[in-house]
Amino acid sequence: MFLKNAWYVAAWADEIDYTLRQIEVLGEKICVYRSSGGNVVALEDACPHRKLPLSMGRLNNDTVECGYHGLTFDCSGQCILAPGSGRIPQGARVHAYPVHEKYELVWIWMGDPILSDTSKIFEVEHYDDPEWGINRGKALEIECNYLLVTDNLLDPSHVAWVHQSSFGQAATKDVPLRITRGDQGITVWRWMMDVDPAPFYKKIVEFEGHCDRLQHYEVRYPSTALIRAIFTPAGTGGVDGPLHDKTFVMDSYNFMTPVSEG
Ligand code: FES
Repeated sequence: MFLKNAWYVAAWADEIDYTLRQIEVLGEKICVYRSSGGNVVALEDACPHRKLPLSMGRLNNDTVECGYHGLTFDCSGQCILAPGSGRIPQGARVHAYPVHEKYELVWIWMGDPILSDTSKIFEVEHYDDPEWGINRGKALEIECNYLLVTDNLLDPSHVAWVHQSSFGQAATKDVPLRITRGDQGITVWRWMMDVDPAPFYKKIVEFEGHCDRLQHYEVRYPSTALIRAIFTPAGTGGVDGPLHDKTFVMDSYNFMTPVSEG
């Protein structure tokens, strides 16, 4: 079962151009393309006549011509041409999914279109802030239930064993984890006080000696994760810590898009 009334990442924005492509999200096949005006269009990828995927058809002045008998659909999914027929068949339309581009990603709404409020798209803090650096990962295709990935991204306890040479350190074995539940999701976190920086971060932080370290692992429903790492000179961290001009903060965002039940 999937949660449909939510925004999911469908693609990187630069993957969608004036070409018909099929993607699959939540078990639904979707025909996507970018119109000549630059808008991303996402249509149910099954012609209502004999169910040929529209992604196997042709783009014609921003409309999609079915490759089987030529029914043609506009960007809203409405059939606007039925060759060889004197009229447009009643009910000849396909579902058009609400889409929105933000953070160079294409977001798609899989549920009731009336509820597709773009202000509900996950906020990436500091995204346009020139004071912050940004790195982009790549899309990973992982053959497992997406909830196993959200589980991993809520689990700071594994780093002491899996990431010993990078994020792990003695304190990640010993310091108890805290859990905060909210309306939007759940966070597992802990401050580790007066410890060595973990090996990976030791090379990055701009201070010497011990640090206070935050591990903040947050998942917002249904499947967006934020991992925040803070390394700050010892004595400047903690829940009410003042922080410091050498405090290092890294936010890592992960957007899990379930493809299919499998
Ligand atoms: S299957 Fe699309 S027009 Fe016939």
